[in-house]
Amino acid sequence: MKNQEIRRLTEKHVAHTYARFPIALVRGKGSRVWDADGKEYLDFVAGIAVNSLGHSHPAVVRALEQQARRLIHVSNLYHIAPQSELARDLCRHSFADKVFFCNSGAEANEAAIKLARRYGGEWLGGKYEILSTHNSFHGRTLATLTATGQEKVRAGYDPLPAGFRQVPYNNLKAMEEAIDEKITVAILVEPIQGEGGVIVPEKGYLQGLRELCDKRGLLLIFDEVQVGVGRTGKLFAYEHFGVEPDIMTLAKALGGGLPLGAMLAKEEAARSFVPGAHASTFGGNPLACSVGRAVLKALLQGGVLKNCVKMGRLLFNGLQRLKERFPFVREVRGKGLILGMELDRDGSKIVEDCLQAGMLINCTAHKVLRFLPSLTVSKKDLDRGLTILEKVLARQ
Ligand SMILES: Cc1ncc(COP(=O)(O)O)c(C=O)c1O
Repeated sequence: MKNQEIRRLTEKHVAHTYARFPIALVRGKGSRVWDADGKEYLDFVAGIAVNSLGHSHPAVVRALEQQARRLIHVSNLYHIAPQSELARDLCRHSFADKVFFCNSGAEANEAAIKLARRYGGEWLGGKYEILSTHNSFHGRTLATLTATGQEKVRAGYDPLPAGFRQVPYNNLKAMEEAIDEKITVAILVEPIQGEGGVIVPEKGYLQGLRELCDKRGLLLIFDEVQVGVGRTGKLFAYEHFGVEPDIMTLAKALGGGLPLGAMLAKEEAARSFVPGAHASTFGGNPLACSVGRAVLKALLQGGVLKNCVKMGRLLFNGLQRLKERFPFVREVRGKGLILGMELDRDGSKIVEDCLQAGMLINCTAHKVLRFLPSLTVSKKDLDRGLTILEKVLARQ
């Protein structure tokens, strides 16, 4: 089937929740993808921070094939070896003592919210409220869209669940003033906002939140669904800031392309999850967890994080040079290989022109071009991407 036929089928039979580009991607290798008409693209979207090892990475393919031959799925009524091993690996390399597995970022945040509420009910006299931030993104379930600080994500879903409030990001005073002694149980933030426009908080913000939580007896929850698992050049984004959360959520890159989410927690909070308190049929499935283990191993042993830091610096410098050349570029920001280029205008035309020119990028928060290449991207591909972008920007 060609692009047009696939597009016709999608439009006829798939729910219209996405405004899609008019191509169907059917094959990928490393940082390249091909559409159904055979056109090649440089992929700087990577499934929105999912395909961090590039497409069809041999370690991912090997783990998938081997596990598929052995055992694809069993119920969480039984112990699952790849799940136990992945949980051990995640705890070994993070602040956490326990992991709950699920299938997506929204579910990981849903688990974090449920755990915080149970903890508040059990140990804090019934506190339940979650404070999050404007511009944040935490998912599309009813609870996570209510925690999300973007009106457009919530529109049409009233009545929303009670117990959520947002304050401006990067503003410690606003957070402190918002805490309600009687009901607030946790603060939920992204260490770097992704969908909100690649916003890196000021120095001291996350430390300040940690101190606030310690002082007021609240749980600190970091949503690392987009920026965790190597994206920023460290395994977890919080490592850049010298603070640890009580709970952290992961998904996207963790499964190397398979649906895999995780909520990690310190023992103190985790003990509020007891048998029957929460569950997921597919969560921690042998196939997804085997691939998750391969992803972690490649990140920790394969020089991938080093490449991310090095290529991130090159891409940042390249984007910065374009900022100097084009006055409509306002700012370049980010960490590792999550970089944003803020424009003084809507970025959708530039994204379309890049697609025409053979390069996939994305625009978020209307004006921020977001660059999320695979963490294994080569200098050659980065240079090629920058050349395409420069040509496209010159035409604006
Ligand atoms: C920070 C953050 N949290 C949660 C989510 C939701 O993840 P999912 O789409 O896997 O439910 C996203 C998705 O973009 C995200 O960026």
